[in-house]
Amino acid sequence: MIVNRRLDEWVKLEQLDLDSVETVVDEKVEDKVASLKMTRHQKRKIDETHVEVGHEELDAASLREHEEFTKVKNIATIELGRYEIETWYFSPFPPEYNDSLKLYFCEFCLNFMKRKEQLQRHMRKCDLKHPPGDEIYRSGTLSMFEVDGKKNKVYGQNLCYLAKLFLDHKTLYYDVDLFLFYVLCECDDRGCHMVGYFSKEKHSEESYNLACILTLPPYQRKGYGKFLIAFSYELSKKEGKVGTPERPLSDLGLLSYRGYWTRVLLDILKKHKGNISIKELSDMTAIKAEDILTTLQSLELIQYRKGQHVICADPKVLDRHLKAAGRGGLEVDVSKLIWTPYKEQS
Ligand code: ACO
Ligand code: ZN
Repeated sequence: MIVNRRLDEWVKLEQLDLDSVETVVDEKVEDKVASLKMTRHQKRKIDETHVEVGHEELDAASLREHEEFTKVKNIATIELGRYEIETWYFSPFPPEYNDSLKLYFCEFCLNFMKRKEQLQRHMRKCDLKHPPGDEIYRSGTLSMFEVDGKKNKVYGQNLCYLAKLFLDHKTLYYDVDLFLFYVLCECDDRGCHMVGYFSKEKHSEESYNLACILTLPPYQRKGYGKFLIAFSYELSKKEGKVGTPERPLSDLGLLSYRGYWTRVLLDILKKHKGNISIKELSDMTAIKAEDILTTLQSLELIQYRKGQHVICADPKVLDRHLKAAGRGGLEVDVSKLIWTPYKEQS
């Protein structure tokens, strides 16, 4: 079950369908009947989705507490660059911002203010025209900047406050020292304008190669999300490691990852002649073996024969799945990536 908890708008009482509340018990019965009619595959697919989007790390009590505390959206809109953006979720801004419905962000240093005049004054003084840190990728008008949370603490914290407005079940890490932020920008003669970002732990015990990912709403559904995901795997390839995104994934996060994994894996399977193992696929793509297995299983491309998982790839079936996986997203041109993996400086 994919749950959309976005707090996009206030609704009037008339807009609530209270009749449906009373049918909960009946629905459960209907669900049971429906599940009896479901094939095992359909059921597995639903269960898998539920587990991945679910809040497996939160027990019922802490989940309730989280939902209670974050039920009311505090900041309704933000101004960022040339956009006014409606927010989706609660974000724990410092208490002095609690009485503001709207916040004004400097699009370059991400400092936020309560009043437009404060922002205007700030913009006259602020000398940043791009995120702080190193530009590690530029192709056409697209740039990626690597920002070290330890060297740019305030920027890292501002980015987390901003991102939490669009991320639900994510803890806000105040300890930004431990993270690198990869900020995607569209550049023009006025500067480099943030489109989205992902964060990455400097050292991950769980082989996470991405902690949080966000495309700002005005830029969503244009392929930037899949670009950021592809970029995170390109960094993993350079590190010679496999990676996986931190769990839980949001509904949109899961859709984007499923689409990315499907496209990357099926493109390889289509071109490949002869046998190929999950380990080989993982080595080629830096996608963790478990993610490859669940992706191929959900597409019914895996069979269990003589105690082994075997990939069964009929070209026509692959084409059908590729079509269903959506667009490929913006390409990462690896030749434009100038980057060396993070090393702690002594
Ligand atoms: N409705 C239905 N499907 C959607 C939607 C939507 N509103 N948005 C994205 N998708 C799906 C589609 O399958 C889409 O592919 P398609 O356009 O080819 O059909 C795919 O996701 C990715 O589309 P992109 O354009 O590449 O991604 P986008 O730039 O929109 O970014 C992202 C995706 C980052 C998940 C964005 O929706 C977002 O920032 N959401 C809010 C924050 C969030 O949920 N982040 C993930 C949390 S999990 C984690 O951080 C590890
Ligand atoms: Zn600024």
